[in-house]
Amino acid sequence: MKHLIDPMDLTVEEIDELLDLADDIIENREKYSKKCEGKKLATLFFEPSTRTRLSFEAAMMELGGNVLGFSSSDSSSAAKGESVADTVKVVSCYADIIAMRHPKEGAPCLASMKADAPIINAGDGGHNHPTQTLTDLLTIRREKGRLDNLTIGCCGDLKFGRTVHSLIKAMSRYANIHFIMISPQELEIPDYLVEEVFSDGKLQYEQVRTIDEVIDRLDVLYMTRVQRERFFNEADYIRLKDTYILDTKKLKKAKADLSILHPLPRVNEISVEVDDDPRACYFRQALNGKYVRMALILKLLEEAGK
Ligand code: CP
Repeated sequence: MKHLIDPMDLTVEEIDELLDLADDIIENREKYSKKCEGKKLATLFFEPSTRTRLSFEAAMMELGGNVLGFSSSDSSSAAKGESVADTVKVVSCYADIIAMRHPKEGAPCLASMKADAPIINAGDGGHNHPTQTLTDLLTIRREKGRLDNLTIGCCGDLKFGRTVHSLIKAMSRYANIHFIMISPQELEIPDYLVEEVFSDGKLQYEQVRTIDEVIDRLDVLYMTRVQRERFFNEADYIRLKDTYILDTKKLKKAKADLSILHPLPRVNEISVEVDDDPRACYFRQALNGKYVRMALILKLLEEAGK
């Protein structure tokens, strides 16, 4: 594990190790407070972010390290036409490890071929978001006590939502996982993902159009935002953006131990009244993101011999 580009770069054993380490960090914060003294993390964000960038930066600071970087392509030399390859080659001279978000699918993969420092994909277009997946897996494991024997509803923009793509891939390797995809026809999971995850028939999924018809069966409900920035026209976005709004009324039929996740940011898809329901895990999930990124930074630096 020199870089983390795709959730499938990690074996199930490596994921378990990272989640165990994150659990230990949560229990013993002081033990890790100097582990990255003298080390630098660069956050290269060519696309907006609140949680991912700031949790990476907080993670490195809590490990005793330092951070540098930029939060938009406008404030980097990308605005002058510099290539991703040149950018990461140069930043490798300044930082020990790089977290990178880019609107183009595959940009972090290309970066990993050129950079001397380990590259972490912090989200590439509508493709993958592996550190969100680690966050989601840590949250599910902490909330449910397991990563197997789960019925998981994925709801919203399953076409463009990279978090859900990465989660489906990662969860497909655990036993007795049943996915229920809840989306309008226009936002169903992409064909390449169906081919990659479901074509061998070992894992099944259902496709439905409403939350109501399945909510009583779910152990986990993974809500997602309709990804305005990936639509080709605004009219389609406006037509589809409020297809699903989870509220307390809809939750009446849900299991008492349902876990509601959302990678955030949310727009309208979860009513704020749900925030007070103990089954709403999304703010705990955002916090878990910092701890699992601490674990990942430690592992990648160790692997790189830094
Ligand atoms: N979940 C997530 O990726 O959030 P940000 O876009 O704020 O980083």
